[in-house]
Amino acid sequence: MEESLDTDLTHESLIHDLNNVFETITEAAELLSGDRRWKPLAATLCRSVNRGKRLLGAIPDSTPILASVIDDAIQSVMDYCIAARKPRMRFVRQIPTGTRLPGSAKDWERVFANLFLNAAQIMQKPGRIDIMAQHMNGSLTISISDNGPGIPPDLLARVFRPNVSTKTNNSGRSGLGLHIVSSIVKKYSGRVSAANRERANGAVFTISVPAN
Ligand SMILES: Nc1ncnc2c1ncn2[C@@H]1O[C@H](COP(=O)(O)OP(=O)(O)O)[C@@H](O)[C@H]1O
Ligand SMILES: [Mg+2]
Repeated sequence: MEESLDTDLTHESLIHDLNNVFETITEAAELLSGDRRWKPLAATLCRSVNRGKRLLGAIPDSTPILASVIDDAIQSVMDYCIAARKPRMRFVRQIPTGTRLPGSAKDWERVFANLFLNAAQIMQKPGRIDIMAQHMNGSLTISISDNGPGIPPDLLARVFRPNVSTKTNNSGRSGLGLHIVSSIVKKYSGRVSAANRERANGAVFTISVPAN
């Protein structure tokens, strides 16, 4: 019997075709790495390819240990800052050793990468992101604060809704990052809130999830 066309348009087939795209980028990175000047950028490309494969589920997911998920998200945003020639960000972490998150590391990497990326994109000069995690009343609370300009006050109440953005880009796909963040946090029965810092410039996002 003839298979329906839909079976060829599954997530699996998307992984297959994107793997070909990744293969090309990996080959190009290999070429670049032969030249000392381009070696660091080649490494950036390879890490980005691995990130893409992780997101697609094409390589195995890892255990969601908060410190290593944060490290991967930091690396991804530092790669963005280098490639997009954005000012460098300094990351300051206060994370109790061995803290675990519920569910999948790949989901949480998306959460933190989106939050860090927003802060990096809005920064006009080198900035700082503070990540603080603590256990409180059966919950794990993680706050991410930056020293940028803060969230426009008229946006605060709706910033997690889809398509809310102050950015314009050619693809017209702005305003999804924080919606992805809140959808993933909700998936793990958690809550996320956005505010501006009280005693300094900048935004603060607070995530709270049931502790494992
Ligand atoms: N750390 C931050 N500081 C200031 N504004 C922010 C920050 N994070 C998000 N925002 C605001 O929230 C909007 C929505 O963010 P997001 O959902 O990630 O979509 P996008 O980044 O595509 O605009 C941004 O356009 C920006 O105006
Ligand atoms: Mg964003």
